[in-house]
Amino acid sequence: MRLLRLADLAPRERHAWLTPLIAPRPIALVSSLSAEGAGNLAPFSFFAMGGGNPQSVAFCPVADREGNPKDTLRNVRATGEFVINIVSRAMAERVNAASAPFAPDVDEFDMTGFTRIASTVVRPPRVLESPAQLECKVFEIVTHGSGPQHSNWVIGEVLVLHVDTAVLGDDGLPDTAKVNPAARMGRQEWAHVTAANMFALERPTVATTRTP
Ligand SMILES: Cc1cc2nc3c(=O)[nH]c(=O)nc-3n(C[C@H](O)[C@H](O)[C@H](O)COP(=O)(O)O)c2cc1C
Repeated sequence: MRLLRLADLAPRERHAWLTPLIAPRPIALVSSLSAEGAGNLAPFSFFAMGGGNPQSVAFCPVADREGNPKDTLRNVRATGEFVINIVSRAMAERVNAASAPFAPDVDEFDMTGFTRIASTVVRPPRVLESPAQLECKVFEIVTHGSGPQHSNWVIGEVLVLHVDTAVLGDDGLPDTAKVNPAARMGRQEWAHVTAANMFALERPTVATTRTP
C-alpha cells in the first residue's frame, strides 16, 4: 500500500489522486443566471443528493487557480436559484464543451447548442435535451478553505422535478438504464452507465447478514 498525507500534496495533486478513486461521479449540468440576468451553464461532478425531507442536493464549484469564484458560484450567491440538468451519454460532448472557461457574459447555451426551456418556479432555464431537470433554491453555501482551489459547497433544495416520460420504467419511476447517464472518473475519463453494467441486490435484513 502507498500512504499519502494530504498536507504534503498540492491541491492539484490531491485532486488527481482522489478523482479516479471517488468515481464514477454523476454530473450536474447547472444552469444559473447572474444578478444582471446573464445566462450560464456549467458541469459539476462534485455532486450528490441527500435525504428527502426536504430533498437536498449539493455541488461544489471549486475556486480557480488564483482563488477566484466560478461564474456559477457568483450567480447562485446573487440569485439563490439554479437548475440541475441530469447528463445523459448523448449530451457528454456538449457538456464537456460547456466547461470551457468562457467569459462571464458568454452564455454556454449559445456556445454548445443546448436548447433553453423555461422553468416553472425559478428563473434559470432548463436544458431541453436533458432527460431530467431539477429546479432548486439555495439552502446554504459552505466555503471550506481559501485561496486556489478551495471548495464551496452549494447545498440546494429541489422544488420541482421534470422527467422525460421516455426514461420511466414499468413501475412508473425513472429507470437509470433508460436515462443512460454519463459520469466522471479521474484524468480525462468518463463512464457510461447502461443496463449491461448495472446489477441489483436486495437490501438485507439483520438475519440474512449473519455468517453461519
Ligand atoms: C464533467 C465535468 C465535471 C466538472 N466538475 C466540476 C466540479 O465539480 N467543480 C468544479 O469546480 N469544476 C468542475 N468542472 C469544471 C467546470 O465545469 C468549469 O470550470 C467551468 O468553466 C465552470 O463554469 P462557470 O465559471 O461558468 O461556473 C467540471 C468539468 C467537467 C467537464
